[in-house]
Amino acid sequence: MASRRQIAILPGDGIGPEVTDATLTVLDTLCAQRALPLQWQVLPWPSTEWHRQHGAMMPDDALQQLHSFDALLLGALGDPGPASDSARYCLPDAVSLAPLLTLRKQFDLWSCERPARWQPGATCYLSDPRARDVDMLVIRENSEGEYVNQGGRLRAGQPDEVATQLEVFTRRATERLLRHAFVRARQRRSRRQQEGRVRTFSSAAGETHDARVCLITKRNAQPFWGELYSEVFAAIASEFPDIGTHHELVDAACMKFVQCPWQFDVVVASNLHGDILTDLAAVLCGGPGIAPSCNINPDRRDLPPLFEPTHGSAPDIAGRDIADPRATLLSAAMLLDWLGEDDTQFSEAAHQLRAAVGEDLARHADQVRSTRRIAHDIRDALRATPHPAVPHTAPPAHTGDSQ
Ligand code: IPM
Ligand code: MN
Repeated sequence: MASRRQIAILPGDGIGPEVTDATLTVLDTLCAQRALPLQWQVLPWPSTEWHRQHGAMMPDDALQQLHSFDALLLGALGDPGPASDSARYCLPDAVSLAPLLTLRKQFDLWSCERPARWQPGATCYLSDPRARDVDMLVIRENSEGEYVNQGGRLRAGQPDEVATQLEVFTRRATERLLRHAFVRARQRRSRRQQEGRVRTFSSAAGETHDARVCLITKRNAQPFWGELYSEVFAAIASEFPDIGTHHELVDAACMKFVQCPWQFDVVVASNLHGDILTDLAAVLCGGPGIAPSCNINPDRRDLPPLFEPTHGSAPDIAGRDIADPRATLLSAAMLLDWLGEDDTQFSEAAHQLRAAVGEDLARHADQVRSTRRIAHDIRDALRATPHPAVPHTAPPAHTGDSQ
């Protein structure tokens, strides 16, 4: 029997505590039902409230403490809300959000992965019926690029002020990121094969592939890192001849995410480009309330990965029990997937949790329910199906992705 896994729950600010509470309600049932060897500890930091009491977002030894966990699940950080309370204790973004960026960087969680698959019940903002076939994984560089936070302001506030914001792109970080994108493309294809799904992607040159990776840059205006990415991409692509490739400039990618999002499979982008594209991908699949994410170091099982919904602290709805907890539940499923790489009982639990959230979405769509109601509905559905769901296998069904 594998050892018990310890995870830290970091509710954070705003709707964070509401969506993590809801998630724990569901995890409680899932763990009890499957006798899953999983334990959690809820930490009061990082948070704006901790800052109010202690003058810092988290204790000095926070990283050391977090290092001992197998994984971290974060609610949200930022404005704690409620927005109607103008006297609330609020911090500059640079302070309240810093722990998030610190955790990503200090634990070298260089791959931020945000799956975007439209599911029945989710709002579909696009009228083209093919928009229901959207199924992409956006992988965002998470350790450097535009987020290195180097630069400064010279003569701040003066008419001749100069602000500099440095971007750093290393070959090492580029290689590991791009190689990982190809690995994920192969994994996604085998999962599709197990589920009896086939996708076909056509290239401009008339070739077809059943899996592909899209590289995003802005190499027409930012040639230095754009060329580095493009060269490394071409070299790694030659190691994966079975995976199709294409490149999009980030502005054109935004257009195509709206025009023909079903043509994307794995998308790999820099830190900032990935940040922007993943909000767009989230809304294509129904919105931030159901968009999960993870920050992982695929090479290091000894560092705690961080799982979090793509949304923020939503001060406008904080404290009202109306936040959608399903993005956090789906992030928890990604956490279980990670633990499942060492122990399949976690992967089976991840599968069951994801299926339960999917069924809840199909049944209730965006019907107005409280955060707690959604958690209770999903928990009750899990209770009603005590036998683990078995991954669905069916004869191949074809999903056309070409124009
Ligand atoms: C995200 C968020 C963060 C980011 C902010 C809160 C710093 O937008 O996780 O996408 O830009 O990475
Ligand atoms: Mn973002």
